[in-house]
Amino acid sequence: MKVTVVGAGAVGASCAEYIAIQNFASEVVIVDIKEGFAEGKAMDLMQTASLLKFDTQITGSTNDYSKTAGSDVAIITSGIPRKPGMTREELIGINAGIVKSVSEQLVKHSPDIILVVVSNPMDTMAYLAHKATGLPKNRIIGMGGALDSARFKYRLAEALECPQSDVDGMVIGGHSDTGMIPLTSIATRNSVKASEFLSADTLEEVAKATMVGGATLTGLLGTSAWYAPGAASAAIVHAIATDSKKMIPCSALLDGEYGLSDLSIGVPCIIGKGGIEKIVEIDLNDAEKEKLANSAAAVQKTNGLLEL
Ligand code: LAC
Repeated sequence: MKVTVVGAGAVGASCAEYIAIQNFASEVVIVDIKEGFAEGKAMDLMQTASLLKFDTQITGSTNDYSKTAGSDVAIITSGIPRKPGMTREELIGINAGIVKSVSEQLVKHSPDIILVVVSNPMDTMAYLAHKATGLPKNRIIGMGGALDSARFKYRLAEALECPQSDVDGMVIGGHSDTGMIPLTSIATRNSVKASEFLSADTLEEVAKATMVGGATLTGLLGTSAWYAPGAASAAIVHAIATDSKKMIPCSALLDGEYGLSDLSIGVPCIIGKGGIEKIVEIDLNDAEKEKLANSAAAVQKTNGLLEL
């Protein structure tokens, strides 16, 4: 499998690293607009190959998309990250132009490509990638839910005082501080509902900490996070590469599912070699349904800022 990572910043480099370490891709091409930057990151990563024991060939390119030709998957991380105090939505002005031209370039050189969109505001950027490329809806995947669910499991394990491998949980809705919906009602510790162990108030705190997970890190780091966003993106690429049919919450273009249409938003998806092979419609309680409707309205409002 050939994978392109667009953006050699912290998220793109982490993503390339995690993909290489797992050794499932034959080739990773990193592209960046900054002269020599992608080449440098690629060379540095390649010098870890004998240490970390992977055979993936990593190369870098300064904005030459011909090097990406024949890619099976591309992860789009380019654009500016948020600074402390900013919302993801505030990035739309700069990032929309970048994501549009990057998606068009990628599809031009790899017509069968699957795009994994990371750039923020992520749901709107995934929607824009659809509009810009006209790719079938199964081939554009917004990464947010995979990341937000990982952050939810971190917070659940912290509250439950247990290892993360003991917990399961999922976040749907928009990838924003107010739009995420951590599904506390179905979160579990080794098949037992988390609500058996945690009070409603504690579960509410877990949900709140999950929703501002990105902002918390931006406050600590001075820029947005990269390890978990990189690992979440790599997990989606792994599911595609291995045709694993894993259920991963991702931002998918909806066409009537959950009563919503003409937007990309986080819902449980079956991920395999075709990208989003199925959208899973789970039963939501009334409160969750209302949250999803509100989250969708907020995403649609941001989509309305796009010049399509
Ligand atoms: C975050 C960015 C990637 O949540 O949206 O860290």
